[in-house]
Amino acid sequence: MATFKLNGKTMTADVESDTPLLWVIRDELGLTGTKFGCGIGSCGACTVHVGGRATRSCITPVMAVEGANVTTIEGLSAQGDHPVQVAWQELQVPQCGYCQSGQIMQAAALLKDIPNPSDEEIDAIMSGNLCRCMTYVRIRQAIHQAAAASKENSDV
Ligand code: FES
Ligand code: FES
Repeated sequence: MATFKLNGKTMTADVESDTPLLWVIRDELGLTGTKFGCGIGSCGACTVHVGGRATRSCITPVMAVEGANVTTIEGLSAQGDHPVQVAWQELQVPQCGYCQSGQIMQAAALLKDIPNPSDEEIDAIMSGNLCRCMTYVRIRQAIHQAAAASKENSDV
């Protein structure tokens, strides 16, 4: 049995304690925005936030998030209008889309830590999120655009 907050709501799942968080989110709790790519922490497709930190849910046993706040792409913002999501839409970042929820969750965590990142900081922090469609250039542009939009919002 595992109990944690998922997108602000307390959830309990009747699973083994070593079940990966990814499968609890997808199969037990029915939120399928978080994707399975490699299962070994090497592609970033399964990225969620745990306590606000970008976390690979495929290699995180559910017991590790007992009592924690977990946020998935579905809970990043109520209306889907987080600055990262807005920039992603405006610049039409996704191609097939499979990696993109993980990219967005990683980018949102990045901007929380570094509100105005350099290209080098973006490349370093996003390097663990792979995209077989090679959307990396647009991802970098969108992160800069989201950073600028967040700054504008905080200035008004
Ligand atoms: S599926 Fe988790 S890092 Fe690839
Ligand atoms: S958009 Fe296709 S894998 Fe990234």
